[in-house]
Amino acid sequence: MEITLDSPLDMHLHLRDGDMLKLTAPLSADFAGAVIMPNLVPPITTPDAMVAYSRRIREAMGEDVAFSRYMTLFFTPQTEATLQSICDTPEFFAFKLYPAGITTNSEGGISHMKEADSTLRMMEEMGIPLLVHGESHGFVMDREAEFLAVYRDLATRYPKLRLCMEHITTAAALQLLDEFENLCATVTLQHLLITLDDVAGGALNPHLFCKPIAKRPGDRDALLQAALEAHPRLMFGSDSAPHPLHKKECCGCAAGVFTAPLALPKLAELFAAHGSLGNLQNFVSGNARKLYGLTPVSRPITLTDTPTHVPASYRSFGQQVVPMYAGESIGWSVKKD
Ligand code: NCD
Ligand code: ZN
Repeated sequence: MEITLDSPLDMHLHLRDGDMLKLTAPLSADFAGAVIMPNLVPPITTPDAMVAYSRRIREAMGEDVAFSRYMTLFFTPQTEATLQSICDTPEFFAFKLYPAGITTNSEGGISHMKEADSTLRMMEEMGIPLLVHGESHGFVMDREAEFLAVYRDLATRYPKLRLCMEHITTAAALQLLDEFENLCATVTLQHLLITLDDVAGGALNPHLFCKPIAKRPGDRDALLQAALEAHPRLMFGSDSAPHPLHKKECCGCAAGVFTAPLALPKLAELFAAHGSLGNLQNFVSGNARKLYGLTPVSRPITLTDTPTHVPASYRSFGQQVVPMYAGESIGWSVKKD
C-alpha cells in the first residue's frame, strides 16, 4: 500500500538554534513547510530577529530544499505602528502567546490576559492569527481544562480573530472547538497515541514527557477519532520539541517529545490501521491550507507500508537527541526515489 501526500505541513514545530538547528532542520525536510515556534533564548520578538532566524533555518535545511517557513513572533503587546511593520514582513505568519512560565523558555510571556487586549483587537482587524499555548498554572492534569474558559472568552470577545488552540490534549478542548467557528486547533502525534500511563504509569519515560502532559485514554481516543475524520478545524502540528539527551535523561527533565523525523510514517501507519488513509491529506495539509489560506511550495511525498527503523538517537554537530520510538520499527516509511 502507498499514499502520496501533496505538501504536508507541520503546523507547530520547534527547530531551536545553533548546532541543534543544524541537526533538526534537515530532519523536518519531508514536510513542505512548518509553523516555526519562537521560544528561543531570548525569544523571537522582533521582525529583524525573525527574518534572521528564518535565514538560519534556510541555511540549516540546505538552500536547495524547498520548505515554506511560516514564522511566528513571541507575543508581547504591540502598538499599531509596530504591528503594521510586522505584517509587512513576508515571512511573518502569526503570534504565539504563552502564559508566563508555562513551558520551555516562556518566562517573558503574558501574566494577565488583559495585557493582550488592545493588541488582540488590532490583530483581529488586521487578520493576524493568534496561536496559544493554552494551559493554566493549576494541577498538571487540569491545566488545559482550566484554560478553556480563556479560549471561550477570547473567541467570544474577538469573533473575527483567527484563534488556534495549540497542541490540544483533551476531549473537552474538542468540544469547545465545535462550539466556536472562529476556533481551530493543532494536535500532536504523541497525543493521538499515548496517555499519562505511557509517560509515568510504569518505568518513567522522559522521552514522552511534554507540555501539555498526555492525558486519559478517553481524551486520547477522542483526539484520534477527530484526527482520523480530519475534523476540518483540526490540523497536524507535531510540537516536535528536541532537547539534548542530557537534558532529558536527568533529574529535572525538560518537556518536549522529538517526533519530526518519524511523524509522517507513523501517521500513515496510524491512519492505515484505522482505514482512514483517505483523510490524511486534509489532516496534514488541506485543513491548514483552507483555514489560513496557505499556499506552500508544491512537494509531493510518497509513503509506503515498508517498515522503517527509528535510530536510538540522532547525533551530529556535537548534539544528540532521542526520538519517540527510538530503536523501534514503524510499519511505514517515506519512499525515496
Ligand atoms: C516545547 C519546547 O520544548 O519548546 N515543549 C513541550 O513540551 N511541548 C514548548 C511547548 O510547546 O510547550
Ligand atoms: Zn510547542
